[in-house]
Amino acid sequence: MTPDIDELLGRMSRRDKLDQLQIVWKQDLGEAAALARRGIGALFWPGNAADTNELQRVARGESPHRIPLLIGLDVVHGQRTTFPIPLAQAASFDPEIARRDAEVSAAEARGAGVTWTFSPMIDVSRDPRWGRVAEGFGEDPLVTARFGAAKVHGYQGDDLAAPTSIAATAKHFVGYGAAEGGRDYNTVDMSEQRLRNAYLPPFQAAVEAGAASVMAAFNTLSGVPMHANRRLLRDVLKDEWGFGGVVVGDAEGVVELARHGVAASPSDAIALALRAGVDIEMGGHVLGDDGEPFADADAVDDAVLDEAVRRVLRLKAALGLFEDPFVDAAAEPLAPTADTRAAARTAAERGAVLLSNGGDLLPLAAGTRRILLAGPYATSPDHLGAWVQHFAERAGTLEDAVRAEFPDADVTVLPGAGFTGADPALQQQVVEALPGHDVVVLALGEPSDLSGEAASRSDLRLPGDQEALVHAVADAGVPFVVVLENGRPLDLSGWFGRATAVLEAWHGGLEAPTAIARLLSGAASPGGRLPMAFPRSVGQVPEYDAHERTGRPATIGAQGPLSMTDWQLAGPGNVAEHFTSKYLDLDLGPLLPFGHGLSTTRFELTDLRIETPEIAAAEVLAGARIGVSLTVTNTGERDGDDVLLLFVRDEVASIAPAVRRLAGFERVTLPAGTSRTIRFELDRGSLGFWTNDPAGEHVVEPGAFTVSVSDGTTTLATGLTAR
Ligand code: BGC
Repeated sequence: MTPDIDELLGRMSRRDKLDQLQIVWKQDLGEAAALARRGIGALFWPGNAADTNELQRVARGESPHRIPLLIGLDVVHGQRTTFPIPLAQAASFDPEIARRDAEVSAAEARGAGVTWTFSPMIDVSRDPRWGRVAEGFGEDPLVTARFGAAKVHGYQGDDLAAPTSIAATAKHFVGYGAAEGGRDYNTVDMSEQRLRNAYLPPFQAAVEAGAASVMAAFNTLSGVPMHANRRLLRDVLKDEWGFGGVVVGDAEGVVELARHGVAASPSDAIALALRAGVDIEMGGHVLGDDGEPFADADAVDDAVLDEAVRRVLRLKAALGLFEDPFVDAAAEPLAPTADTRAAARTAAERGAVLLSNGGDLLPLAAGTRRILLAGPYATSPDHLGAWVQHFAERAGTLEDAVRAEFPDADVTVLPGAGFTGADPALQQQVVEALPGHDVVVLALGEPSDLSGEAASRSDLRLPGDQEALVHAVADAGVPFVVVLENGRPLDLSGWFGRATAVLEAWHGGLEAPTAIARLLSGAASPGGRLPMAFPRSVGQVPEYDAHERTGRPATIGAQGPLSMTDWQLAGPGNVAEHFTSKYLDLDLGPLLPFGHGLSTTRFELTDLRIETPEIAAAEVLAGARIGVSLTVTNTGERDGDDVLLLFVRDEVASIAPAVRRLAGFERVTLPAGTSRTIRFELDRGSLGFWTNDPAGEHVVEPGAFTVSVSDGTTTLATGLTAR
């Protein structure tokens, strides 16, 4: 039975309380059991249901207060059934994909005894050098907020105590995606308005969706490390937003406050973090293995300690752990089912983005009989992506999937290039094999271990000599498709225009090979869009859609010189419009912008209407909504999906507004020849913003707005006035 939490708290010693405030990873079951016996609050998953039951038995039967354990594990995009990386899920522009991933993960994980996951990762990510962009939902706050909330709903379901639910953790709070130079764990410094308008909204959405916990980020924010950031952890998250769950520190993040230089010792660091609002330390430094508290009893007062323990106990109660912390070990889910595989395949198909499609090369013609498949991803089984469980079901190869999808075709497979090194002989083999094939498919990309945590890159080109393979095939003058698998936006400028068609498949998870083969054949139709821009060059990052307006916007990029001085010869230059914000040696904007993605059919957008073209700003601030509708028609010959993006541009505001901001999105599946009317709603979030004052507020200012809807190919716009 769930005890009365205050009564239980009253019986606990200070040491018992401190023990509840840490999560520890122990590989050895005996050592883990000893901590459970002592009364530790949380342990990492020991690896199977039977061992988890044993730890819970010890905690419930032998620990001083019989308090069950939280059992933690990162289940970021799959437990046994690996879904596409979150960035690929965002490319679907269909949050249901993320909800379903989390639902499958939760059932597989809880069935094995896991009760608490460290996901979703909802760090707005605008710098592709940062390897952790793979774990998040891209550059846009609204997309990140919607996908993050969908993940929370998927993990937690309607009832945390259900045998298919686990507690979600929104991470990493906050600003982690804005590390200087895209270098993991690096410093973050940002204005209040940027924090409030871009980086905090996904966390607020996760809290509103009921996220059971929030993880502090490794970075400093404007000088204050997040594990010691009282203003954000206590004042904003807990007080302003009313977050009643658990704040967990990141791995060793609390004691690293000493390395940040804001605490003199690890024990000072722990006191600082608890006072700032961290409830659970990850690493096990609050009480050492010897059970000795980190510091004097005075360092943290009782009220702070009790509040943290209360949060932990409430979460355990909500998970139903006092009632029954055990799982049926005989029923532990150990392998994907037909259903979970189907869900993973749908996710991979919906997240794929058709980047180019010269001569309508995709889908491959029905009579394709001789396929030449080359490149490192032709035979590599590395499709699962950055955060993969070592015990997850392994994926097959693209070679096998293509053979299965095209049973009547002859498929020749050659390596062509490696992920590392250079071997021109491999390219030569491909060039010599070209005659006699109807189509060439180059399966290229970035191996999974080049993205994820501590995997920042300063060069975003395809690694190894893969670009050379593209050029060798292009030089031969045959049409060819490049299929990309990668964990971040890459710099494709060295070859993009030379490929006939390019399909971005990301690290697509367990079912990636089948999904790719079906996208090639036309059994599935690509309809995803880029959730993050692909840069022209690493030198221009961060390069994102909702950037603030400058006083000197450029309208033309590097177009070749009218006349050039010596220093301008370093690049193509742009002397026609010199004193503008641009690079002398680059065209404007990213190579492929946020929202880019083609279809194998055609869509027409018509009848954009705004229901209230004029409205009082005060009314919007008070909650009024403004309907915006349009009609989308599939005018092509194939069924397909369009993605509609709703943008708002604030023409004049008291702080420099973004060139445009995403205010809504909708993915629409339309059979050929059919139409649908889509209705969006603008609200105070779409028209308003946070001012730049730390004691500031969300305002909706009177003035003119431009409202537009784009599907990446066509844009319709109309005006709106706030009085
Ligand atoms: C990562 C977190 C993760 C934790 C536990 C850390 O290194 O930053 O995202 O949840 O490890 O695995």
